[in-house]
Formats: sequence, C-alpha cells, structure tokens
Amino acid sequence: MADTPMLQVDNLNVLYGDYQVLWDVSMSVGQKEVVAVLGPNGSGKSTVLKAIMGLAPIRSGKVLFEGRDLTKVPTHEMVSLGISMVLERRRLFGDMTVRENVLLGAYHRSVNKDTRSRLEWVESLFPILAERRDQIAGKMSGGEQQMVAIARSLMARPRLLLMDEPYLGLSPRIVKQIAEIIRRINQEGIAVIFNEQNVQLSFGLSHRGYLLEGGRVVLAGTGEEMIHSDVIRRVYLGA
Ligand SMILES: Nc1ncnc2c1ncn2[C@@H]1O[C@H](COP(=O)(O)OP(=O)(O)O)[C@@H](O)[C@H]1O
Ligand SMILES: [Mg+2]
Repeated sequence: MADTPMLQVDNLNVLYGDYQVLWDVSMSVGQKEVVAVLGPNGSGKSTVLKAIMGLAPIRSGKVLFEGRDLTKVPTHEMVSLGISMVLERRRLFGDMTVRENVLLGAYHRSVNKDTRSRLEWVESLFPILAERRDQIAGKMSGGEQQMVAIARSLMARPRLLLMDEPYLGLSPRIVKQIAEIIRRINQEGIAVIFNEQNVQLSFGLSHRGYLLEGGRVVLAGTGEEMIHSDVIRRVYLGA
C-alpha cells in the first residue's frame, strides 16, 4: 500500500444532463502531499472537488480513497473516513459566534471528550480564533471568516482536506496568512488538494499540480515543472 496514492481519481467523466463538464480526468494525491489544481473560470475545478465528495453526477470513472471506492460512500460518511472539505466562507453561520461555527465541524460525530482536544489543536493553529471566539462570525473580515471555515473543517481531524479557491477575494496580506496556514496544516501530516486560478499561488506551495482546461487535464507535474512549463509561461504568465 505504501506507493498507492491516498486519493486516486481515474478517468472521471461528469455530465450535467447532456452537458459534459469533466472529460477523462485523472489525478492523485499522495499521503501528506499538497496538490494544486490550476484552471480558468469554468474549467471544472470545483466540479472535480464536488465529484470527489459525491456532489456531482459521475457518469464513469473511479474515485478511490485509500483503495476504497468513494463513489459508493455517502457524502456525510466521508468525514469518518478522514476527508473534509472547506466550505465557502459564505456558508458560515453569520449570526453565530466564531467558536460556535468552529464547533459545528465536530457535530458529525457526537460531541465527546475528543471535542475539547480537537478544539485546542485547532485553536493552536489559529490563535486569533481563540482570541475572537465570542465574536459574531458575520462581522469578521473575509480573511478571518476564511480561517473560521478552515478551522471548522479541521475539527473533523481529516487526513485529506479539500479546499475550493481558498484565496478567492482576499487581500495579498491575508493570502500570505492563509498560505502559511495551509503549510502548517500540511506539516501536521494532512494532505491537501486545492483549486486556484493564479499560477504563483497554485505552485508556490504545492508539491504537485494539474492544469485543467475545458474539463480536461492538459498538464501535470511538480510545482517547479508547472511554473516553468511553456504553456503556463505563455498563457498564464504572459511570457
Ligand atoms: N450544477 C450544474 N449544472 C450545470 N452545469 C454546471 C453545474 N455546475 C457547474 N456547471 C458547469 O460546469 C462547468 C465547470 O464549472 P466549475 O467546476 O464550477 O468550474 P470552475 O470551478 O473551474 O470555475 C461550467 O461551465 C459550469 O457552468
Ligand atoms: Mg470553482
């Protein structure tokens, strides 16, 4: 099992009705790996993550998590396998406090003695959320709300974290903070797959990546290979 990837997506085809969104998409995420999926708007990035989570109509192909066929696992049971997705920060409960929002991430299982140690772990990763625990989430800045959303998903103690455009709409200063958080999450041994539209943000941090265009993987490689590839330099970096 050592050389089997943690997550393997094999020749995935996703169709909404007659409209094909993903074409034979294959990707993998290794243990403790950070993988970026780069692509323009509408290229199918979110659909890849949704398909992994069982939230998109898969016509054919495989999604394997540690060898198990994820397409047969209901979405709500994926948390107990060790998979968690950061919901968009707009999906926070805006009139609840920071801590109440973070604790919601633990509600998939019964609230038990584990909850306290998880909360301590998560708040050690995000000291600001401990300081602000009684603040109303909806009143926080976009970056702080993104931290709450990430913290909430970590309460499930995932081994694989899916993040849909974690940097979207954030200022450069906050982007740096979120990147640092992703790095720390990874240092905790958690594998991450995230989507992004910016080359530097995609591959500055990731071990490997994919370029998605029109629902197809058109390029794959290490972060270094991706940044220096002709197609990315030409199309995305204007070189
Ligand atoms: N629920 C849906 N029904 C029909 N088409 C959809 C649905 N979700 C996404 N699409 C279409 O699939 C394509 C890829 O969307 P998406 O995965 O959201 O791209 P990205 O995240 O890269 O911007 C787009 O053309 C989009 O309009
Ligand atoms: Mg998207």
